[in-house]
Amino acid sequence: LRILFVTPEVEPFVKVGGLADMTGALPKELAALGHDVRIVCPAYGSVKSHGPRTARAEPLGVDVGSEAQWARTWEATLPGTAVPVYLLEHDGYFARPEVYAGPGGSHTDNDLRFAFLCRGALSLCQQLDWIPDVVHGHDWTTGLLPVYLNTTLKNTPLGRIASVFTIHNLEHQGYADRRVLDFARLPASEFRADSVESTGAVNMLKAGLYHSTKLTTVSPTYAEEIKTPAGGWGLDDVLRFRAGDLVGILNGIDTAAWNPATDKYLPTHYSATTLAGKAADKRALQARLGLAQDPHVAVFGVVARFVQQKGLDLLAEALPHIMGRMHVQFAILGSGDPGLEHTFRWAAGQFPGRVGVNIGYDNELSHLIQGGSDCFVMPSRSEPCGLTQMYAMRYGTVPLARATGGLIDTIEQYTEGSGKGTGFLFTDATAPALYNTVGWACATYYDRPAEFTRLRLNGMAKDFSWKTSAAHYVEVYRWAAEQRTGEKL
Ligand code: ADP
Ligand code: GLC
Repeated sequence: LRILFVTPEVEPFVKVGGLADMTGALPKELAALGHDVRIVCPAYGSVKSHGPRTARAEPLGVDVGSEAQWARTWEATLPGTAVPVYLLEHDGYFARPEVYAGPGGSHTDNDLRFAFLCRGALSLCQQLDWIPDVVHGHDWTTGLLPVYLNTTLKNTPLGRIASVFTIHNLEHQGYADRRVLDFARLPASEFRADSVESTGAVNMLKAGLYHSTKLTTVSPTYAEEIKTPAGGWGLDDVLRFRAGDLVGILNGIDTAAWNPATDKYLPTHYSATTLAGKAADKRALQARLGLAQDPHVAVFGVVARFVQQKGLDLLAEALPHIMGRMHVQFAILGSGDPGLEHTFRWAAGQFPGRVGVNIGYDNELSHLIQGGSDCFVMPSRSEPCGLTQMYAMRYGTVPLARATGGLIDTIEQYTEGSGKGTGFLFTDATAPALYNTVGWACATYYDRPAEFTRLRLNGMAKDFSWKTSAAHYVEVYRWAAEQRTGEKL
């Protein structure tokens, strides 16, 4: 199959969250299965170089706006593979470093920027004379892709292309003024509730949901949750309408980048048979974050974007009580909400040697936290899939998480005395529920150490690789292509 990924982020070139991990890892697996897979992503000012990249000689004309628009295309490859990554450069839309938002909040021209990405990706196919069987878009920024394929490009050679759209997070929908349709040169008649319109504006996510041939989301439980009013963020009716075309496929993880036996960021390597090595990484983590050097204390790690979805306000609320009653340390890495940043910094000052905090983005430290912690905390209000709990299990670090979305699908609840389970799950999104669960984890860690080790080993034995899920995506691609063209591929 010929598959084109169009994405706002791709690891290791540019990453905001797990979407980049997914778009950086799944294509590798698809290529290994023999598919011709390529990726288009903007060349933001902050895009990192990985290996050589060459500029395509021919400028890329993109049919948007009222005057001719041109992009410059850089060609690179996903490291360690021959998968082409085309980076679209445009001074007006992508020269700034940030992906979605600057210091003043979301960029006000995001609608235009990402309409440009969608149209640009399709123009590039024409320029390359390479027509994919399937174009695979990711979240609201790529919502206009299938609208093009169903309208203005329908009767062109590109009209054969099937579209698969993955929902990584339903919360961000890309509301835009209807000017975006003029800019994108899409028919004004699409401004309808059964197309791109929602509450008087263009909803770019809804556009993707209505128009794509097939829809996927990143875990089976989330696929169910988003069809209900409680989890649908106002789009549950659309998702129920498209239910027959929607599947939940669990994300895998990059098992080469995340492997405690070879991780270049861990001072000491270990595996299920050499688990004792983990103690040295705990020591290193404690040193790095100014925590007391105590090999016996239970260390709880956190690595996350500080946004409402992640439920870290519950941790902020529970933390003083936890510190007052329990013998624990916390290692916290993340950034986002200024209030939470402030609270965690305050906690580090209030509990010196017991709460270590690093506000920022630090890939190396995120690996050390996975390697050096005993438990990994995710009180998420919602979690479409979540990758960090899978990293944690692979590193023998027991996840403690709220039972929602992909956390339900990847973490098996511990049942005392059974030898079964991979983590501690709780249901209520409240600080007391989190507090009690930290207490439960502590009791297991201190009073039943053999069972705690069992939990670590159970997690390490799980297979979180992309293998199964990549095969699943291939099925969806074939299903979509057949529906689009009537031909079996
Ligand atoms: P989301 O995409 O909602 O943020 P995921 O669990 O799917 O959640 O993915 C988050 C990814 O971003 C993981 O690879 C995680 O390690 C990484 N990450 C999040 N915050 C940071 C940070 N402050 N520093 C380094 N990596 C981070
Ligand atoms: C989103 C979700 C996260 C998921 C990631 C990758 O950012 O918040 O749960 O793991 O996308 O699909």
